[in-house]
Amino acid sequence: GAPIQVDLAPIASGQDIKVFWRGKPIYIMNRTAKQVEEARAVELSSLPDPATDQDRTKEGHEQWLVVIGICTHLGCIPIAHEGKYDGFFCPCHGSQYDSSGRIRQGPAPANLPVPPYQFVSDSKIQIG
Ligand code: FES
Repeated sequence: GAPIQVDLAPIASGQDIKVFWRGKPIYIMNRTAKQVEEARAVELSSLPDPATDQDRTKEGHEQWLVVIGICTHLGCIPIAHEGKYDGFFCPCHGSQYDSSGRIRQGPAPANLPVPPYQFVSDSKIQIG
């Protein structure tokens, strides 16, 4: 599939949009300062699938989280801004993802994957 470009300007802080890339739902979340802070304060050793928020986001664009919205358990689409960790909640079997898209609780074995993407300007990304 071809790369897609997404304009981030309409996404207010604390909001998200869902786009499709290669037939997959991609969540683009404009995180609040609190969500970024929470994601960065977590002890890595407490994570089932340890990864830093820094590694899952782009330097200088810390508020933006871009993840593939397919639960790593059995493939349902998690709901953004729901659940106990200010991130995503999967309604199928209750997996809880945090504001970095990392699995925190429930049957999912791994974090929501970050697709390949880059910033082409301050308010536009290219996915793929
Ligand atoms: Fe998401 Fe099972 S598919 S928890």
